[in-house]
Amino acid sequence: MTLTEIIETFKTKLNPSKIMDSLEKTASFYDESDNDFGEDDSGDDLKNNPYSNSASDSVKSSGLTKITRDEKEPLIKLTDVWKIYQMGEVEFAALRGINLEIYEGEFLVVLGPSGSGKSTLMNLLGCLDIPSEGTVYLNSEDISGFDESELARIRGQMIGFIFQSFNLLPTLRTEENVLLPMEFQEEDIQIARKKASYLLDIVGLSDKKHNLPSQLSGGQKQRVAIARSLAVNPPIILADEPTGNLDTKTGNYILEFLHGLHEREGKTVIVVTHDLDLVKYATRVVYIRDGEIEKIEKRTKSEPEELK
Ligand SMILES: Nc1ncnc2c1ncn2[C@@H]1O[C@H](COP(=O)(O)OP(=O)(O)OP(=O)(O)O)[C@@H](O)[C@H]1O
Ligand SMILES: [Mg+2]
Repeated sequence: MTLTEIIETFKTKLNPSKIMDSLEKTASFYDESDNDFGEDDSGDDLKNNPYSNSASDSVKSSGLTKITRDEKEPLIKLTDVWKIYQMGEVEFAALRGINLEIYEGEFLVVLGPSGSGKSTLMNLLGCLDIPSEGTVYLNSEDISGFDESELARIRGQMIGFIFQSFNLLPTLRTEENVLLPMEFQEEDIQIARKKASYLLDIVGLSDKKHNLPSQLSGGQKQRVAIARSLAVNPPIILADEPTGNLDTKTGNYILEFLHGLHEREGKTVIVVTHDLDLVKYATRVVYIRDGEIEKIEKRTKSEPEELK
């Protein structure tokens, strides 16, 4: 049975949550491609989607219960943000007065040369770090003065990361890495395990559950990171060079996956990339140079092909 067929059966018989729609395209990509991702899947976990137990449970699992939103306000807002790194006596301003508003449902692509401050910006957008000067608002809340535990709380509720270095914990096995964000959210362990199995099935890594990151290929690590980023069903997905260092096929898979999350699930996706194939999905492109925003380009659906 192909992954598409499994998902199709599952969709018609079991009325799963919206997440399946965004994954369908990915599955058809796998099934149509001559690759072995997901081929070993028994599909057992797919038969029981832990994200679709009940409406109230799926709201709980997304962490969205604690968040109320004013739709007119930007989801993320940076006002005159500076990030200054201190190395002994030397200071380096990696971000210099960034002003940026990001709205719900955007697909924002950040472009810029190496060292221009893209990852530094992503760390701030993802509440992994706070600015040296200026203000970062997430969901209208000023997070600039938050301590690490407050940042961790808001990250856990709001943000899924697919980062350059994968940020998989080296001592944790595949399944444990995916469980981690749910443990932070104090998800029931039985449900968390079901969700982890389900997501690992989706990314075709059921047979690598017990591998350590050092026992996975680059593309497999990236897929673990994707499974983990979706574990708590967050409204914002941040990806730093998600297709960098990957073969074309895995790169395309990740690209389609991100597009699906945006297009079908309405997630806010923010991506740093050099990959022009990803730029075609952008609603806006932010160009960064030497820690400053050089320009912001608004894109419509008809424009992207020109870039190819
Ligand atoms: N922890 C740090 N301490 C000191 N300087 C840093 C630190 N992190 C980053 N920098 C410097 O800040 C600048 C921006 O780094 P950043 O990682 O944001 O660049 P980038 O645009 O993501 O580059 P790349 O495309 O190579 O990933 C660089 O000059 C870098 O050397
Ligand atoms: Mg970087």
